[in-house]
Formats: sequence, C-alpha cells, structure tokens
Amino acid sequence: MATPYVVRISSQKGGVGKTTIAVNLAISLKLMGHRVLIIDGDYVNPVVAFHLGMQEINKGFRSVLMGRAKMPNSVSIHAPTGLHVLGGEMTQKEFEPTASQSRRFGSIVKSSAYDFVVVDTPPGFSQQNFFASANEAAIVLTPDLQATANAMKLSQIFDRLHLRHNIVLNRVRSRRWELNVGEIEDTYGNKVCAILPEDDIVPMSIASHIPAFIYSKRCQFSRGMDRFSRMYSLRAEARPVNGDMGSPAGGIIGWLRRIIGS
Ligand SMILES: Nc1ncnc2c1ncn2[C@@H]1O[C@H](COP(=O)(O)OP(=O)(O)O)[C@@H](O)[C@H]1O
Ligand SMILES: [Mg+2]
Repeated sequence: MATPYVVRISSQKGGVGKTTIAVNLAISLKLMGHRVLIIDGDYVNPVVAFHLGMQEINKGFRSVLMGRAKMPNSVSIHAPTGLHVLGGEMTQKEFEPTASQSRRFGSIVKSSAYDFVVVDTPPGFSQQNFFASANEAAIVLTPDLQATANAMKLSQIFDRLHLRHNIVLNRVRSRRWELNVGEIEDTYGNKVCAILPEDDIVPMSIASHIPAFIYSKRCQFSRGMDRFSRMYSLRAEARPVNGDMGSPAGGIIGWLRRIIGS
C-alpha cells in the first residue's frame, strides 16, 4: 500500500490564510476522488472544525499525539464530502508536542490508508513541531514585505531540514503597493506555485462554516485553489478512491471528474 502524501501548510506569520488554504485544499482533493485526511495541527488555535461546520468536534489530534487514543477512533467525517478530519482541542493549557510524540505521530500518519494528509499548523516552526517529516510544505504568504521576509526565513529552515517547499501567495489584490509576483519569485529563487486572490467569498464562507470551495466553486479564490490542488493531485500520483470510504463525491464520479478534468 502506498504511503500518504503529507503536505503541511505553514507560515512564519499568523493570519495569512493557512487554515483557509488547508481546509479548501483538503476539500478540493477529496472532491477529486482522493482519500484525504485533514489534521488540525494548530494546537494553539485549532479552528479547522469551525471552518467545516463541525464545531462539536473537540478531540482528535492531541489524544492521538499523546497516545491516549487510536487514530481511526479519533477521526470525524465531514458529512457533505466524506473528508476525514482529525480535529483540534480548544484548551487554555499551554501545550507543545515533544520530539518523541511528534515522531511517533508522524509514523502513525505515514502508515495510514490515505492518499493525502493535509496538516494545518501553528505559525512558525520549532524543532519539536511535528511533521518535519512531511513530503512537502506549502509556505503561505501575503504580498507584503514582512510576510515575504518571514516566508524566506521559513524556507531556509525547511532547506536545512531537506523538506521540499513551495510558496503560495494569498490575498492578492494587484495593487501598486503590493510586492508583485516577479519580486517575490526573485527573492525566493523559484516560482510561486499558486496565486490566490483576495476574495470576499472567503470571509463569507468562513462565517457560514462552509468552505469556499463548496460555497462558491466558481469564485476567483476557488478557481485558484482548484489549480493548486490539481498540482498536488498530479505530483503525488495518488490513486483515485474506489468508493471504499463512503464519499458522495468519491467512487466513479470522482474518478470521472478527474479524467475529464472538470
Ligand atoms: N484569499 C482571501 N481573501 C479574503 N480573505 C481571506 C483570504 N484568505 C484568508 N482570508 C481571511 O484572513 C483571515 C485569516 O485567515 P486564516 O486562514 O485563519 O489564517 P491563518 O490560519 O494563517 O492564521 C480569515 O479571517 C480569512 O477570512
Ligand atoms: Mg490558522
């Protein structure tokens, strides 16, 4: 059995759109017919369940990480799509995974039967932070100096860890005062892999607890997300689902959609 392709969504700076992008990437891959798990690894501010309209979930990631629960018993299912969700836990207690918990958790995830695992993370990176062992990191930034400088720092950390990375430019309004794509690519030394526009649908969809990709498939943000997730779909060469995880969009429909590229 192939191991899942693990993508961590990262940024050095908070509030740039990590959770929004993680949720919509997971939904988009799921609707293509892949078997997908999203992990709310932002143990400081876990809001993935809130984005998905699953506010009742207050368990998952932390119990599995600490060895108190098994992963299959801790996963919840997003009914509209069949996406699997390892939710976060809202707590006042300070919490930082230890290196051994992180390693153990990484191997549990790697041995799971998903095509893709998308991990939302807290801002920044610490050595203890799990998922240095991801296949890839998507570094999210907005087109301003501070976010770009922070993203470059994070890319250097990932270079040292030999973790493949890409950058995703979010909240682009194409205003004169924004850094443009060319300037960001020159600084990064590589291509930007996705450009996502500022779009009012995003806050509207979050307020409705329906991911933008479902709320409005045709909005500019969803179109950008679609291109971004197709890149992963191709890169990971993951197998389409055979309908074995109960997704309404999986099975033959998901497979057909993938073939005809709709
Ligand atoms: N492309 C976008 N267009 C408009 N608003 C956005 C976009 N991306 C994110 N936002 C807004 O930015 C805020 C922070 O996004 P979030 O995904 O929570 O960031 P992070 O997880 O990096 O802290 C949210 O309130 C969201 O509505
Ligand atoms: Mg977040």
